[in-house]
Amino acid sequence: IHYLGEGNSLLNQFVAELRDVDIQKDAMRFRKNIERIGEILSYELSKTLEYGPKTIITPLGTKEMTLPQNELVLCSILRAGFPLHQGMLNYFDKAENGFISAFRHHPNDADDFEVLVEYFATPSLKDKTLVLIDPMLATGRTLENVLKALKDYGTPKQIHLVSVIGSKEGIAHVEKVFPKNTHLWISAIDEALNSRGYILPGLGDAGDLSYG
Ligand code: PRP
Repeated sequence: IHYLGEGNSLLNQFVAELRDVDIQKDAMRFRKNIERIGEILSYELSKTLEYGPKTIITPLGTKEMTLPQNELVLCSILRAGFPLHQGMLNYFDKAENGFISAFRHHPNDADDFEVLVEYFATPSLKDKTLVLIDPMLATGRTLENVLKALKDYGTPKQIHLVSVIGSKEGIAHVEKVFPKNTHLWISAIDEALNSRGYILPGLGDAGDLSYG
């Protein structure tokens, strides 16, 4: 786990604005803050990629540099993953991209829910570095079901999970079901979940706050 909300940083300013019931009424600022967090998490994640040498020709000479070599696929979970995806794509601008629909279905509006994955469009994941993007990690059941659905698209070399806010229970769940070499990048961790599986104190429903 790479928990980036520890210590003082501008990241926590953005997370505070996402949580704040008054500030989050501004949906454009809400989306933009998630996008900015995506940029920060991308920068931190980039430090763990594989690097190799490359000779760069400048107008006045040449320079040996060490640059990332991974073939990245950014796959986000709709709807709330969209602004986080954009933030990551701002930095990983050569990445391939995939989109997944997953939503919680509450039969008869009961507290209990199942997670339905109905749409999955992605390039091949075989031997690539997969980045799964969802700002909320509540119970972890969405990511668990997405992992099952991934199987048809080839085995990635490495998986990175990227999230804005998670619960301790959800993090423990994904640690249990994902391969051991999976990385989780997250900016805030909260203690609890309520009976409907919402993070407490959390920030509410990121999909609704972003897109109504
Ligand atoms: C929310 C959130 C995550 C999921 C996390 O999606 O955006 O995808 O729940 O919960 P989990 O870890 O318990 O599975 P939601 O179903 O509300 O859809 P939305 O993004 O379209 O609002």
